Amino acid sequence: MVLATEMGSSQPESSFDLSTYLVKRKEAIEVALDSALPVIYPETIYEAMRYSLLAGGKRLRPILCLASCELAGGTISMAMPTACALEMIHTMSLIHDDLPAMDNDDYRRGQLTNHKVYGENIAVLAGDGLLSYAFEFVATKTENVPPQQVLQVIAHLARAVGAAGLVSGQVVDMESEGKTDVSLETLNYIHAHKTGALLEASVVCGAILAGASAADLQRLYRFAQNIGLAFQIVDDILDITATQEELGKTAGKDVQAGKVTYPSLWGIEESRRQALQLVDDAKAQLAVFGSKAIPLLAIADFITSRSN
Ligand code: FPP
Ligand code: MG
Repeated sequence: MVLATEMGSSQPESSFDLSTYLVKRKEAIEVALDSALPVIYPETIYEAMRYSLLAGGKRLRPILCLASCELAGGTISMAMPTACALEMIHTMSLIHDDLPAMDNDDYRRGQLTNHKVYGENIAVLAGDGLLSYAFEFVATKTENVPPQQVLQVIAHLARAVGAAGLVSGQVVDMESEGKTDVSLETLNYIHAHKTGALLEASVVCGAILAGASAADLQRLYRFAQNIGLAFQIVDDILDITATQEELGKTAGKDVQAGKVTYPSLWGIEESRRQALQLVDDAKAQLAVFGSKAIPLLAIADFITSRSN
C-alpha cells in the first residue's frame, strides 16, 4: 500500500510505503523480542513464554508505540523496551483468554494454543511470567528517557492491563456471554477495555517516552480510542468473513457462541461504515502534526483494510 503524502503536497514525489514500513518494523521488533527472553533454568517456563511470544502476529501494538514515539520527536531505541513490553502483555492476555476456563481455544497465531502444548498449569504461569517481565523490562532496559517519564509509562501500562482496563473488559465480556440483550453501550464498554485500553496505551506510552505535551497526548489518546474501536469492529467482521487460515485462529466463533457483536447489531455493511468513520475521525486528530503523522495515518487505514 502506498500512501501519497497529502500534507506535503509541495513534494509530490515523496510517498510512504506502508507494507515496507510494517515489514521493517516487525523485523526489528522480532529481533528485540527474541533477545529479550533467553531460555534459562527452568527451561519449560521460558520455552512456553517464547512459544507464544515469538509466534508471529501483526505486532500492531509495538509498531504503534514506536510510531507514536517518533511522531513526538523521540527515537525507536527509546521506545523499543516499552514496545516489547506491550507485546509481552498482549501475548499474556491471549494465552489466558484461550484457556479452558475462558474461551477454551485450540489455535492462536496459526499454531496450537499454549495450554494445548504445555498444559494448563504451565500456560497460566507463562502468562504470569510474561506479565511481570514486561514491567521489569521497561524499568530496567529503557535508556535516554527521564525517569519520571518511564514511571509514567509503567503506571499507564499497569492501569491498561488491570481492573481499569483489560481485566474488566474480559469480565463484562464473560458476563455477557449467552445473553441476547447486550446493549451497544455494554458492547462499547467491553471493547474499550478489552482491546482499546492496550491499543491506547501503545500510542500514548510511545509519546510519553518522547516527552510529548499534554495537548499532544490528548490528541494521540483520542486517535487511539477511535482506532481501537474500529479495530474491534473489523475483528467482528473478520470473524464472519475470513477463514481460519487467514485469521490463524478459529473463525466463526462469535456466531457459534451466539455472541452479540457489532455486525449482529448493525449488519456487516453498517459495521464497515462505522469503522471507516471512526478511522476518519481518528486521522482528523493528527492533522496538526502534518507529515510527521504519515505512518500513524497509514496504520489507521490498514486497520480497516486488513484481512487478518
Ligand atoms: C481476546 O478477545 C482477548 C483479549 C483481547 C484480552 C483478554 C484479557 C484477559 C484474559 C485479561 C488478562 C489480564 C490479566 C492481568 C491476567 P476475544 O476472545 O474476543 O478474541 P479472540 O478471537 O482473538 O480470542
Ligand atoms: Mg478468545
